[in-house]
Formats: sequence, C-alpha cells, structure tokens
Amino acid sequence: MCEPLYIRWTDCNNLGIPILDEQHRSIVSTLNTLHHFIRLGKSESIIDAILNTLDQHTSIHFTTEEQLLLKSGYPDLNKHISSHRRLLQKTNQIICSPDGRLQEGEILRFFKDWWLDHIHTEDREYVPYLLEASEQQDPLAVIAGKWSCPTW
Ligand SMILES: [Fe+2]
Ligand SMILES: [Fe+2]
Repeated sequence: MCEPLYIRWTDCNNLGIPILDEQHRSIVSTLNTLHHFIRLGKSESIIDAILNTLDQHTSIHFTTEEQLLLKSGYPDLNKHISSHRRLLQKTNQIICSPDGRLQEGEILRFFKDWWLDHIHTEDREYVPYLLEASEQQDPLAVIAGKWSCPTW
C-alpha cells in the first residue's frame, strides 16, 4: 500500500519550461498509476483505460511541445517530430494489439526508459532555443517562467 513510486519525479527532470514540465510530470504520474494497477493484478479493462489516458496525455503534450518549437524556430524540429511519431505508433501498437502485447513489465520498462531518456536528451536540447525565443516574443515569456505569481 505504501510502496515507493515506480518513477519518482525529481528536480533534475525539470527543463524550466513550466507547461512542458507539468505535462511531463502528468505522463510520469500516469505511468506510476499503470504500475500500481499492474502490481495489484487488476483487469485488462483498467490497464487499457490507463494506456488510453497515457496516449491522450502523450498526444496533447507532443502538440504543445511541437507548437512551441515551431514558434521558436527550433532547427531540429522535424527530427524531434519523427521521434514523437515513433513513440505514438509504438503506444498505439501496444494498445491495439493485445495478443501481440509485450508483457506488462516490459511495457512499463519501455515507457519509463523512453520518457526519461527523451526528456533528458532530445527535449533538453531545445531548452536554450525556447528560452531565447521567450526573451524576444512576449507570449513565450509566460512559458519560460518570466511571469511569476505574486506572493500573497
Ligand atoms: Fe519531445
Ligand atoms: Fe517532452
């Protein structure tokens, strides 16, 4: 009941782009929920529902990220989009092919490795471009955390 989380979010996972950090965190949270129910041995319908949630969060996150990268003029956008598309294909393959499915432990490991590796390598590469763009374009200043909430 009080088992540690499968993936513990730490500050080193943050990129400093608030909306993207928040979305990454929600994806990690969904993976932790998936791990929780797999450990409980819950029915396939619950696992399927969580995998569909993961797919939706992933699509929304990729749309958000790609739009910000486009605005910032990120030079490796196409390569980044290709990486996103491959993950979406793999996610759909896992959801739609229950007979050919990986074992649940392998599914968890696959998503954990993919997301942590992607955040720490490919995502981290765009950070300087988004921060620089945020200094030149007011709307992006929000995502770079330039506007902070007042302390009450
Ligand atoms: Fe990405
Ligand atoms: Fe990302």
